[in-house]
Amino acid sequence: MIETIGILGGGQLGRMLTLEAKRMGYRVVTLEPFPNSPTGQIADEQIVAAYDDPRAIGELGARSDVTTYEFENIPLDSVLLLEREGRLVRPDAAALRITQDRVLEKTFVRECGIGTAPFAPVADARELDVVIGELGFPAVMKTARGGYDGKGQWVVRDAHAAHAALAEARGAQLIFERFVPFDLEVSIICARGADGTSIAFPASENQHDHGVLATSIVPARISPEIAARVRAAAETIGERLGIVGAYCVEFFVAGDEVLVNEIAPRVHNSGHYSLDATQISQYEAHVRAICDLPLVEPYLFSPAVMINILGDGTGDELDGIVELLSDPDAKLHLYGKAHAALRRKMGHVTILGKTVAAALAKAERARAVLSWKARPSALAR
Ligand SMILES: Nc1ncnc2c1ncn2[C@@H]1O[C@H](COP(=O)(O)OP(=O)(O)O)[C@@H](O)[C@H]1O
Ligand SMILES: [Mg+2]
Repeated sequence: MIETIGILGGGQLGRMLTLEAKRMGYRVVTLEPFPNSPTGQIADEQIVAAYDDPRAIGELGARSDVTTYEFENIPLDSVLLLEREGRLVRPDAAALRITQDRVLEKTFVRECGIGTAPFAPVADARELDVVIGELGFPAVMKTARGGYDGKGQWVVRDAHAAHAALAEARGAQLIFERFVPFDLEVSIICARGADGTSIAFPASENQHDHGVLATSIVPARISPEIAARVRAAAETIGERLGIVGAYCVEFFVAGDEVLVNEIAPRVHNSGHYSLDATQISQYEAHVRAICDLPLVEPYLFSPAVMINILGDGTGDELDGIVELLSDPDAKLHLYGKAHAALRRKMGHVTILGKTVAAALAKAERARAVLSWKARPSALAR
């Protein structure tokens, strides 16, 4: 029987996962290098250690009945270590290995018969010249591993810029992708049980700013036919990866083409809306999947728009909360982070509406009333 869930990572995804797990009666232990992390503030215990500290990883495994992770850039070796010690890790190391490397990931998606942007791996200047000749511009160069929120990416329009990006990457393995002139981006959260049961949340339409998710609109404004293809592709991917847990697949929609951009073997920013707009959240779905509880098909109470609250570097105190919460359709989520650095994810707001258009209009107002200011104590200093 599963009583304690271990979470590698201490960010906001782990925090919301923990809140749902605690509601359902589980104990939670998190491992994260920074004390008092967003997850650690809610969890029963936080092990303060590096993600590659074998003793601490062993400790996490020993204290947990099942271990999971809230972001995919943890060392694969740590998950392999847990598995070698006979610990249950969900999703497992095989799924993590593929999804934490953009080259393996896109190769795998192609092998599933699903489209991606044309891509090629690039390790050095000679390879880069060959790839430029084959794929052309504009393109996006990304580090194969370790990137998130648009970090480790360069949009390049000519060979000069591509070589500059290569130099900036300092020897990291890269992927070179054709830039996709998409109509819109969508993502879908699915969850899969150990028995192969699969459920899917309504697809969300995502708008990014500087590579960071800014807005998610649910349901995505796509035809039922495109929505069905998105779901089918995501379910094929989950099945072929053997994922147990919640996962997210991001897509570019260009005309009637649907291309996979990336897979996250975990709960995802674009699924936050499910805490407020569906009868079961992505976090509960993940808990159910990894704890062998029944997975049920989510249904939407109403259209919803989620906006991320990002730091802008001007101050750490959020202003406008009173005005925001005067709206009966606004749900505020804050992550307990002390410093609102530029583009750091500090919280989000979900706005419910009778229609997507109504929720979007309110979401724009919500974005406008929120701002950052210096804390009074900081001003006095
Ligand atoms: N090949 C591409 N063509 C067009 N836009 C892209 C491409 N790759 C990435 N982007 C844009 O950058 C965003 C972040 O890239 P992504 O590959 O999802 O990395 P991350 O891991 O940082 O989320 C995407 O959501 C999309 O808006
Ligand atoms: Mg992404």
